[in-house]
Amino acid sequence: MVSQSQHPGNAARPLRIGNVQLETNLLLAPVANYCDLAFRITCRELGGLGLACTDLLSPQGLLRGTARSLDLAATNDADKPICMQLYGGNPDILAEGAKWAVEHGATIIDINMGCPVDKVTKKDGGSKLLCDPSSTIRLAARIVESVEVPVTAKLRLGWSNGEIVAPDLARALEGVGIQAITIHGRTTEQKFKGEVDLDGIRRVVEAVRSVPVIGNGDVKSAADAARMLEVTGCSGIMIGRGAFSAPWIFREIWGFLQTGSVPPEPTEGEKVDVIRRYLDRMLEYRGEHYAMTHIRRRISWFSKRLGPCKPLKESVRTARDPAAVYAALDEFTAGGLRRFETRPTDSVPQEA
Ligand SMILES: Cc1cc2nc3c(=O)[nH]c(=O)nc-3n(C[C@H](O)[C@H](O)[C@H](O)COP(=O)(O)O)c2cc1C
Repeated sequence: MVSQSQHPGNAARPLRIGNVQLETNLLLAPVANYCDLAFRITCRELGGLGLACTDLLSPQGLLRGTARSLDLAATNDADKPICMQLYGGNPDILAEGAKWAVEHGATIIDINMGCPVDKVTKKDGGSKLLCDPSSTIRLAARIVESVEVPVTAKLRLGWSNGEIVAPDLARALEGVGIQAITIHGRTTEQKFKGEVDLDGIRRVVEAVRSVPVIGNGDVKSAADAARMLEVTGCSGIMIGRGAFSAPWIFREIWGFLQTGSVPPEPTEGEKVDVIRRYLDRMLEYRGEHYAMTHIRRRISWFSKRLGPCKPLKESVRTARDPAAVYAALDEFTAGGLRRFETRPTDSVPQEA
């Protein structure tokens, strides 16, 4: 529970990124294989979300029209405003990819400068861009010149603790027309280990003059969001993993920022409806194979907020088809599939 005293006051200011006015200052992070079209719309429908982002997209894949890239870039009218994130290290190809993205519905283009995965950094993309700031600034300028929509950049603090470049780089990116900076408060070497470095984010906020800085990392509640805003002075917050188990987190945070109280959590029935609608959308947009693969994986995340429901998780994981998933959700709603998990016996005091 967040207390009134932690209410950050004026933090409920909708963000403006270039000429794009958002409804709130809360963003859904690009999370490859998780924040697909179905999930983005699921979060949007629950409220509070100002901007959502696609997975990182390969500009070569978009330009060649590979099925995978087209699926990842798919958007629709309900999925607006949408940021399309591109990765790579070749300015010309990125510029062409950015034009493609705008022609296919992007409201904003983001350049990935934070991905630590070898497959991406070995091709000079992602957080490899942190290692050569001068080239990265030229690359960003090239993309900014190539499109009319705002271009943003998502960074980590630096490659390692000894090479923190984000404050200077963010300032220089602003100088070539980048319209917002998202900063994940970890280094590349850290990947996802350790705690997010709020002081590191604050230093980026202090370095940048006029564009919004969006803080990112480990925000899982309204209290976390309030702390991030207060400690770092950032203007917006991007959330990834915190939305997997609670896609309504944006509504909770936005409600809290506006009023000082967190709106009531959805009821159990409403939470199950969220899962149903997410499955409906995956089936509609991507078909049965995709929907089944993803719902089997995602049920563990959703069930974190459903109370004891191990049998429901098992039923969904072993379901043969969507009908079996819907049946399991119906059974859970009717009171079944919720046997309490037995506690390990060593945690129960024993009589001598
Ligand atoms: C599985 C996974 C995939 C990710 N994919 C992307 C991506 O495509 N582009 C990107 O900029 N960041 C990506 N990220 C990083 C997230 O956007 C975010 O910066 C990070 O998870 C920290 O935020 P969180 O604690 O709110 O999840 C990914 C993270 C995870 C765990």
